[in-house]
Amino acid sequence: MGSPMLKLENIDLAYGEAKVLFDVSLEVQQGEIVALLGSNGAGKSSTLKAISGLERVSSGRIFFDGENLTNRPSSEIVKRGLSHTPEGRRLFPRMSVEENLLLGLRRGTKGVKSKELLDRAFEMFPVLKERRKQYAGLMSGGEQQQCSIARALMSEPRFVLMDEPSLGLAPQIIADVFRVIREIRDSGVTVLLVEQNMVQSLAIADRAYVLERGRVTLSGDAKTLSKDPALQKAYLGA
Ligand SMILES: Nc1ncnc2c1ncn2[C@@H]1O[C@H](COP(=O)(O)OP(=O)(O)OP(=O)(O)O)[C@@H](O)[C@H]1O
Ligand SMILES: [Mg+2]
Repeated sequence: MGSPMLKLENIDLAYGEAKVLFDVSLEVQQGEIVALLGSNGAGKSSTLKAISGLERVSSGRIFFDGENLTNRPSSEIVKRGLSHTPEGRRLFPRMSVEENLLLGLRRGTKGVKSKELLDRAFEMFPVLKERRKQYAGLMSGGEQQQCSIARALMSEPRFVLMDEPSLGLAPQIIADVFRVIREIRDSGVTVLLVEQNMVQSLAIADRAYVLERGRVTLSGDAKTLSKDPALQKAYLGA
């Protein structure tokens, strides 16, 4: 394997006095789907926030495309082609679906290009096309989740961080969301996926890391991990 697209080296992160990440190291190669698994409070979202510059790390280093981006402002990191779909849907409920999507564009995107990106989003998520003029807040949870993922793709990222895209969705819709994540990867985007939904994440991921109380306790090939009894144990927090 070549040098990783994303590399975390011995990250520590604290909220005030409370340390929540301890010596976290991980790598994502271009073209991979890597799952970051763990139970509530394990530190998954904090890890993503450290990567996208929403939280500062107290030690360790973060490299993107070989460049040291540790504790650089979020805006700078986004410019390099990294996009973060935060936990919860974070749409503007009193704006239309289309307006929400257009907010995902990079600054300075030309009209023709933005139309093209909008069409691509509607192709990937037909329900958003049907509802394009409707308030985002009036869609179902699953539809809003699709809108949130589509919005992240409007900036044409090369790398996406997804924080629990399946959270709170019905099983059929979860299956759709996982299918879309695979399509996103197949379109050339690298994915770091945070999920509590272990079985389905491991089914689409190439590799995975498991966080327990702020530490990486297991990692490896997704197929191998899915058969590892230690994973069940880590998950149940036993
Ligand atoms: N802004 C914050 N201020 C203080 N503590 C925080 C903050 N955000 C998270 N924490 C704490 O950091 C720890 C890790 O939280 P984090 O949100 O990273 O976990 P998570 O793995 O994403 O959990 P979940 O599955 O519930 O989303 C938890 O103990 C949490 O209470
Ligand atoms: Mg979280």
